[in-house]
Amino acid sequence: MMTEQVLSVADLVVEFPLGGGQTVHAVSGVSFDVRDGETLGILGESGCGKSTVGRAVMQLPRPTAGSVRLLGDELTEYAGRRLRRQRSPMQMIFQDPVSSLNPRRKVKDLVAEGPRMRGRSVSDEEIRSMLSAVGLDPDVVWDRRPHELSGGQCQRLCIARALMLDPRMLICDEPVSSLDVSVQAQILNLLEDTKERHRLSMIFIAHDLAVVKNISDRIMVMYLGKVCEVVPADRLAEHALHPYSLLLIDSVPEAHLPDADLEPEHAAERAGELPSPIDPPSGCRFRTRCPLATERCAVEEPEMREAAPDHFVACHHVEL
Ligand SMILES: Nc1ncnc2c1ncn2[C@@H]1O[C@H](COP(=O)(O)OP(=O)(O)OP(=O)(O)O)[C@@H](O)[C@H]1O
Ligand code: SF4
Ligand SMILES: [Mg+2]
Repeated sequence: MMTEQVLSVADLVVEFPLGGGQTVHAVSGVSFDVRDGETLGILGESGCGKSTVGRAVMQLPRPTAGSVRLLGDELTEYAGRRLRRQRSPMQMIFQDPVSSLNPRRKVKDLVAEGPRMRGRSVSDEEIRSMLSAVGLDPDVVWDRRPHELSGGQCQRLCIARALMLDPRMLICDEPVSSLDVSVQAQILNLLEDTKERHRLSMIFIAHDLAVVKNISDRIMVMYLGKVCEVVPADRLAEHALHPYSLLLIDSVPEAHLPDADLEPEHAAERAGELPSPIDPPSGCRFRTRCPLATERCAVEEPEMREAAPDHFVACHHVEL
């Protein structure tokens, strides 16, 4: 695999002003890169800022601060039509697929929408062949509207729409979370096949550890708007170091574990409450839930340290 970087994100900050002087610190200084042909998983519990990172990379909306370089181009410097053009090698599949589709349009038009908006004509033949490629029967879905599709079909349609723009990279935001388990596997296979066939890089966002682990090359673990650990996927289970990563591994639903004698309440109890991103803890944001926290953790933010090749961790008390 080549190690050329397709996407390079540095010090990304996203804040949402709430009025009354309050601010949501949704993403607070996140840096990562995505290499050619690589899948980077983003893992973390609800509200930790995964979707906000994905959207900020797409400039939807433009981040409060930080740099987003796609194939060497600084996207934060562009706006309007220029931004759409520079960003087009990167396509996002949104967390809620149905609401990302115009409900009044038919499948045949939804597939062709992207290229047509860019002034390219698209033949019926091309639409049919793209529908087939994502496992949709053109004769069946051709005239259907989004609400007439199943969740899995909708997700296939979103993948088709993205591929029509010939991307180098896909950002998939929880692409299977809303689907039945059997359909999940089909969509994951489709994404893997698509990635191989089109030589894509991918950002794969999920809160389900089992799903992220299987599809990713590296995994970035986020907590309350910060990165805790970046780890090769095959090291996560045995060699994860950050106390939060360890908690996530421990709290995988029982069905995924070989020894299922741990009561479900146990993991939840230890997990505790997620603090508010309006007033995040000082120092290490994980300290209010961390079993290893010391006074130092309250006053000093931990920096990323290299634990092994491609493995970085932000914690004062992890021995490297
Ligand atoms: N437009 C907005 N205005 C205010 N706060 C927002 C906005 N968008 C997101 N947030 C807040 O930012 C934080 C991060 O949200 P985000 O949707 O990125 O989390 P997530 O990790 O994708 O969660 P989930 O797993 O539930 O999808 C949350 O506290 C959320 O409430
Ligand atoms: S820096 Fe401190 S609070 Fe944060 S994860 Fe490490 S030990 Fe826990
Ligand atoms: Mg989300």
